[in-house]
Amino acid sequence: ANTLAAAAQQSGRYFGTAIASGRLGDQTYTTIANREFDMITAENEMKIDATEPNRGQFNFSAGDRVYNWAVQNGKRVRGHTLAWHSQQPGWMQSLSGGSLRQAMIDHINGVVGHYRGKIYAWDVVNEAYADGNSGGRRDSNLQRTGNDWIEVAFRTARAADPSAKLCYNDYNIDNWSWAKTQGVYNMVRDFKQRGVPIDCVGLQSHFNGNSPYNSNYRTTIQSFAALGVDVQITELDIQGGSATTYANVVNDCLAVPRCTGITVWGVRDSDSWLGAGASALLFDGNGNKKAAYNSVLNALNNA
Ligand code: G3I
Repeated sequence: ANTLAAAAQQSGRYFGTAIASGRLGDQTYTTIANREFDMITAENEMKIDATEPNRGQFNFSAGDRVYNWAVQNGKRVRGHTLAWHSQQPGWMQSLSGGSLRQAMIDHINGVVGHYRGKIYAWDVVNEAYADGNSGGRRDSNLQRTGNDWIEVAFRTARAADPSAKLCYNDYNIDNWSWAKTQGVYNMVRDFKQRGVPIDCVGLQSHFNGNSPYNSNYRTTIQSFAALGVDVQITELDIQGGSATTYANVVNDCLAVPRCTGITVWGVRDSDSWLGAGASALLFDGNGNKKAAYNSVLNALNNA
């Protein structure tokens, strides 16, 4: 196969990208995105601040632009993200306790309801675990509403759209030896044991000098999968763009049947949240395929 999506499809997987609605008028961008990818995540447009700028007033204009572009081009969509400490609108930042808990529930119902039946998987809760060695929850206004906020979010999302896979998504949970990875692993195990509805874990996989790719990544993917959830690589980028590391990441996913797909966090280096200088993606600023692109394509074709 000679595109990333077609190559991934050979093993029943997808290959996706984050799309920014503001770039949909850029023809180089849309040409590459349409040709190479079959799963789309809105980079910012389905987040809390975008979809509920005022309490109870939902705005899906930008989210729908990304959604419609994807579906009109035959692609599926991952939803990102419903409950997160970051990119909360001001009104939500100022809430606490029971009213914040209710606002979270209302938000999930509003957004998941709008896209009911249309989303492959939702990142229901994003980045709820702390960095460092605690292995515990991140302090946030949501966490302070009570430790059960994550399972409440998942139960709410399940009821609002029984057909969407429900994922927990985080960064720095790629390295199996890190406390944060173990913290999330223990939560997922607990959820599966108690019947809290969770279907997948999203490994964001933003690799850089401080959180480099480690060969135990495959163990991480296998270990989560063994709990009975799918694993998706949801926001892949690699600072410096090492072709070898990209191939390692792809091969580790391909080695685990329940690793169902890979999404890179942007199309060209110039589209990356890290800036073009990070050289973290698969296409350069002119839209040319990089060595990392060929390495990913080869890995997918050799599966
Ligand atoms: O659109 C406004 C523009 O109108 C304004 O003039 C400009 C000035 O700051 O800001 C623009 O919004 C920015 C937005 O990206 C769109 O470019 C925000 O400031 C900026 O904060 C926002 O950054 C996003 C970031 O999440 C916010 O947390 C990045 O694009 C996005 O790539 C990044 O994605 C996150 C995932 O959601 C979760 N995992 C980590 C990942 C990388 O940080």
